[in-house]
Amino acid sequence: MELYLDSANIQEIRHVASLGIISGVTTNPSLLAKEDPTVDARSRILEIYESVGGHLSVEVISTDTDGMLREADDILTWFPDATIKIPMIPAGLAAVKELSRQEVPTNVTLIFTPTQALAANNAGATYVSIFLGRLDDISADGIQAAREVCEIWEAQALESLVIAASIRNPLHIIECAKAGADIATVPYKVLMQSLKHPLTDAGVESFLNDHRKMMDAKQKIGA
Ligand code: G3P
Repeated sequence: MELYLDSANIQEIRHVASLGIISGVTTNPSLLAKEDPTVDARSRILEIYESVGGHLSVEVISTDTDGMLREADDILTWFPDATIKIPMIPAGLAAVKELSRQEVPTNVTLIFTPTQALAANNAGATYVSIFLGRLDDISADGIQAAREVCEIWEAQALESLVIAASIRNPLHIIECAKAGADIATVPYKVLMQSLKHPLTDAGVESFLNDHRKMMDAKQKIGA
């Protein structure tokens, strides 16, 4: 399962990119606004792309098909490698259908059920993003929704790539990988948390201590 970073924070993106563990970035209007409401979205997106390369989803804000297609055209003039992120609403499906005809990659976002995912796939989406965490937030079962989508994808050999999104903790990453999601897009904090284990830190510390002891002993005998 590939990992993307779900962020518009350039420091976070550069840090995680330097670790070599992500192959793309997803953004949305809320993530861009969280960084700096006055940020020029266009230059921030290009800056992100220069830092990571790979997949970068850029979301439209129109809610009608023509508006979404106009925005997609505009985004592609300044960022031809963009994956256009489209909300899972009927007008969005029509936009996905047209963009798919033009062979423009799309990521259908705000998917909460397998039937929404299926519709997005059938409209021609390149990626379908299942929002696990927001389901958990309302006491529904986000992991179960992701499992059902992956089971259907396997049974039907569907083409869209499944992105597990709205990830809240490392367990979400593990369960989505087990279920067969193609990608998990993960916030910085959760991604860094998923790399840590107290036994790893304790092990590094004790190796360093033992190495230091060995060096001291050698120094004492002049070796
Ligand atoms: O990629 C989906 C993500 O940006 C939404 O996450 O944490 O706002 O539910 P969240």
